[in-house]
Amino acid sequence: MLDLPCSPAADRNKQPILDAFARIVGEQGTVLEIASGTGQHATWFAASMPQWTWQPTDADPRTLPALAARVAEAALPNLRPPLLLDVMSPQWPSQGHAFAEGGEGGEGEEQKFDAIYCANMLHIAPWPTCAALMQGAARHLRPGGLLITYGPYLEDDVPTAPSNTAFDEDLRARNAAWGIRRLEDVAAEARRAGLALRERHAMPANNLLLVFSFQ
Ligand SMILES: C[S@@+](CC[C@H](N)C(=O)[O-])C[C@H]1O[C@@H](n2cnc3c(N)ncnc32)[C@H](O)[C@@H]1O
Repeated sequence: MLDLPCSPAADRNKQPILDAFARIVGEQGTVLEIASGTGQHATWFAASMPQWTWQPTDADPRTLPALAARVAEAALPNLRPPLLLDVMSPQWPSQGHAFAEGGEGGEGEEQKFDAIYCANMLHIAPWPTCAALMQGAARHLRPGGLLITYGPYLEDDVPTAPSNTAFDEDLRARNAAWGIRRLEDVAAEARRAGLALRERHAMPANNLLLVFSFQ
C-alpha cells in the first residue's frame, strides 16, 4: 500500500456523503468529480457504486500524481484516471482533448455527464469559481442531470454554527479571496447558468449537501 496524502475529514464524511449521493442519483450513470483532492471520495464512491463511472479531476497539477496513484491502487474498472481541470478554464478538462461524445477530442458535441460532484471547493477558491462551476456544469450535464455540491454554507435564516464562523475567519485570514459562501448567492449563480437548487440536505459537522438540476 502506498503512503498517499490523506484527509481525515474526507475519511469521516465519505460514508454520509455516499449514503446521500446514492439516494439522490439513479441506478447507473457517469459522474464528473470537480476538485477531487486526495481522491478519497472518488475511490470510496466508485468502489461502492460499481454501476457509476467516476471521472476524478483537480485544478492543482501538484495533487495529480498522488491522486493518480490512489486511483491506480484502487484498480476499479469504473474509475477513470484523473484529469487536470480548473473550473475557470473556458474548456473542460484544462489540458488535452475536451470531453467529447465518442472520444472525438474537441470536435463536435461536448460530453454530457449524468452528475457532477464537487465537495469542499467553493470556500477554498475565489468567488468567481462559483459562476465557473455553474456554467461548466450547464455545459457538461445532460438535461435533467444533477450538480451535487458539499461543504459549509452560510444561510440567511439559519444561525451559523460557531465552528463554521471560526472556520470562515481562518479561511479569510489564509486568503482574502476565500471564505464560506452564502447559499443564496450560490443558488443565484446556479440560476444564472440554468440550474435550479432542488434539495438541501443537512450533513454532519454543519455541512450541507446541495442538489441542483439542469433544466
Ligand atoms: C479542500 S480540497 C477538497 C478535496 C475533496 N473534494 C474533499 O472534499 O476532500 C479543495 C480542492 O479544490 C481544488 N480547487 C481549488 N480551486 C479549484 C479550481 N479553480 N478548479 C477546480 N478545483 C479547484 C484544490 O486543488 C483542492 O484539491
